[in-house]
Amino acid sequence: MSVRVIIGAQWGDEGKGKIVDLLGNRADLVVRYQGGANAGHTLKFEGKTHVLHLIPSGIFHPNTICVIGNGVVVDPFKLLEEIDAAEKLGADPAQLRISSTAHVILPYHKDIDKAKEKARGDSKIGTTGRGIGPAYIHKIARTGIRIMDLLDENVLTKKVEAALAETKTNFSEFKDFPEHDSKNMIREIMECGKKLEPYICDTAHLLHKSMNEGKTILLEGAQGALLDIDHGTYPFVTSSSPTSGGACTGTGLPPTAIKRVLGITKAYCTRVGNGPFPTELHNEEGEKIRQKGHEFGSTTGRPRRCGWIDLVALKYAARINGMNELAITKLDVLDEMPEIRICTAYKIDGVETDVFPVSLKALEKAEPVYVTMPGWMSSLDGIDSVDKLPAKSLDFLHFIQKELGVNISIVSTGPDRAETILDKSFVY
Ligand code: IMP
Repeated sequence: MSVRVIIGAQWGDEGKGKIVDLLGNRADLVVRYQGGANAGHTLKFEGKTHVLHLIPSGIFHPNTICVIGNGVVVDPFKLLEEIDAAEKLGADPAQLRISSTAHVILPYHKDIDKAKEKARGDSKIGTTGRGIGPAYIHKIARTGIRIMDLLDENVLTKKVEAALAETKTNFSEFKDFPEHDSKNMIREIMECGKKLEPYICDTAHLLHKSMNEGKTILLEGAQGALLDIDHGTYPFVTSSSPTSGGACTGTGLPPTAIKRVLGITKAYCTRVGNGPFPTELHNEEGEKIRQKGHEFGSTTGRPRRCGWIDLVALKYAARINGMNELAITKLDVLDEMPEIRICTAYKIDGVETDVFPVSLKALEKAEPVYVTMPGWMSSLDGIDSVDKLPAKSLDFLHFIQKELGVNISIVSTGPDRAETILDKSFVY
């Protein structure tokens, strides 16, 4: 029996989709546990590139059951589009299961998301506009609509009418706030519900049963630890719990089931949206990383902010997630960097610390303290084992491993499934 959580150890976009897809061929089930279509998990195989937003990244392995857990907020319209697109690329939708208790994102959630961002002006969060925050607000306020409600016209009608009435009152002062015809909306949602019905089930029960049968389960986090609603750089965070704890509440699996927590980090660091980012580069080096790493959002297309790897933030992520395995992605992006910097501490008000500050004000003042290492200045193309890596890239990896105290078991040297080194120490 093996239950492993895969989490982003930075601000998202660490390459989780690729790693989940890679391990997915050995997994019986791959499960998303939080977030929604704000995620963009990019998979590249057999010359094809595909971005998944809601469907778990195991869908292109024919024997893997892909579960959308109760903690996810599901945009049913987007999900149907995604099922169609994945089917065209050879995936079988029969592998999909959707939790009947997951909440849904409806068009008014996206309207609210966009209107609130506009109203925030300069202090906007930089959300993806996918309605994530408003859907979780309704969930916590106990007025949300769950997947099971799409199959019950009476319940759905009552809930949608109430939500539209409340939204109309709350946003009456907002210029150009869209109005929706409730009858049309309910009809369209019911149609979605009918199409999704074959996949809807009690996923917590399915997961318990699978666990007891000794199946291999991968829990796929979206976003990253520093975007966590509780542990991230609040308020510049997403509205869910991407950290490993969220994998329990978002699936119904108990904490005692999880044996392995695999953190994913890039060999450098990126962030989309607003909020502090101590190692951000505003110079040519940052631009070089952005271009070589194709650092543009896979959901919104926005250019990502780029900077050096930050071990203060990674140590914090390792602690709050209980990380006992580490994957480093996009190592090849640093191939042409004559010097590589690693942030090992922050200087805040003249005092050096390696503790990630929980205060946003302190983090905004943090000046990175760097260790500089020589780059390897050669291509990592085609390297398929640790012992073939250039010595200087190994020095870089060993330094990170030692500082974090977490074993690096996977190194990714390119976007394709094949461009991955799995250390001998890796246990499926
Ligand atoms: P939301 O999740 O759309 O509400 O956006 C909140 C913050 O999380 C914004 O800074 C987004 O840019 C960021 N964010 C949301 N999803 C992702 C992701 O998949 N990768 C990276 N950043 C994300």
